[in-house]
Amino acid sequence: MKILVLHGVNLNMFGRRDPRQYGQATLADIDSALEKTASELGVAVTTFQTNFEGEFIERIHRALDDGTDAVVVNAGAWTHTSYAIADAFAMLEVPVVEVHMSNVHAREPFRHFSVLSPVTAGSVAGFGVESYLLGLRAAVSLARQKT
Ligand code: DQA
Repeated sequence: MKILVLHGVNLNMFGRRDPRQYGQATLADIDSALEKTASELGVAVTTFQTNFEGEFIERIHRALDDGTDAVVVNAGAWTHTSYAIADAFAMLEVPVVEVHMSNVHAREPFRHFSVLSPVTAGSVAGFGVESYLLGLRAAVSLARQKT
């Protein structure tokens, strides 16, 4: 089983960016925690980060044909703004789980709304790196239910 983890805009700066909200973990730390949990679950994980919206969308398009069984996504600020990314996810038939490091609902009002929620199975927010690991477990469980 193949799980794709997508990290969106500014998330390469985790570790240096607003540690009060996002903690000290770098994106590399997050990816290695994901690898560890994936191997415990017996699945393969592929991670991808970009700051370019078109590249992010093209990576979603590739997931149509590359054997991806489920997606975990932290789209960063695109979560709140990008109908183009929502349209790309709407093409996928595999489960998509949205994750956020911070508790977006306890922050500024613009972060309370996700344009991705209508095309995702559910979301996990506020648990730091653990949000990704819980999201991965949810994605694997949903993909296993489908097969
Ligand atoms: C974030 C929350 C978003 O509101 C923000 O724009 C981010 C990170 C999170 O992981 O908590 O870039 O997705």
